Amino acid sequence: MQIESAQFTISNTDIQKCPSGNRPEFAFIGRSNVGKSSLINALCNQKRLAKTSSRPGKTQLINHFLINEQWFLVDLPGYGYARVSKTQKKKFQAYIETYFRERSQLVLAFVLLDIRHPAQPIDLEFIAWLGSQQIPFYLIFTKADKLKPKAIERQVTAYTEALQEDWEEVPPYFITSATSKEGLESVTNAIGDILQALSATQ
Ligand code: GTP
Ligand code: MG
Repeated sequence: MQIESAQFTISNTDIQKCPSGNRPEFAFIGRSNVGKSSLINALCNQKRLAKTSSRPGKTQLINHFLINEQWFLVDLPGYGYARVSKTQKKKFQAYIETYFRERSQLVLAFVLLDIRHPAQPIDLEFIAWLGSQQIPFYLIFTKADKLKPKAIERQVTAYTEALQEDWEEVPPYFITSATSKEGLESVTNAIGDILQALSATQ
């Protein structure tokens, strides 16, 4: 599948104000600074569609981007950003949780993981929570340009082993870089396959 058009639709913290209708959507979630917004820009081939920053905590709202006038990519705030206050962190978590619990248009979450880091408790906890809510998810390893192929292989193996401690099956995963554009086509193809399967059942 090709992304032909991408437009910003709306930002908010209130899921009641997210776009109405039944367009399917795919959400990007993961720790602050993992590269969620950068990956959305790279997938859409636009530099400033989603706001990015080298400082964690840039995205603070639920952002909907309409793709090919048919479906949405959703950029979410990161979790685990140490420098926001505890109450603010709680507030983030509350509306992110509400988004995942109540947003019936959500088809799949992509959980982004920095390829350079070993499995972190906060990510494993979030993944377990998605599982407990029966929210389907795939994994995306980001910033693959930062490591050599051998190291990438090592990191992914270690990660899948860590997941297998809790999960019988490891979900589909993608190795990507917003910088080198590696792996982007496999992400859009996976979305395309899901959309096709959805339209076949409608
Ligand atoms: P929050 O909105 O704060 O949660 O962060 P985010 O996950 O949206 O991360 P963002 O896309 O803003 O990127 C964070 C930093 O990582 C920026 O400095 C990006 O330039 C950098 N970055 C993102 N993706 C890549 C990548 O694939 N390769 C490299 N080398 N840097 C990347
Ligand atoms: Mg962001």
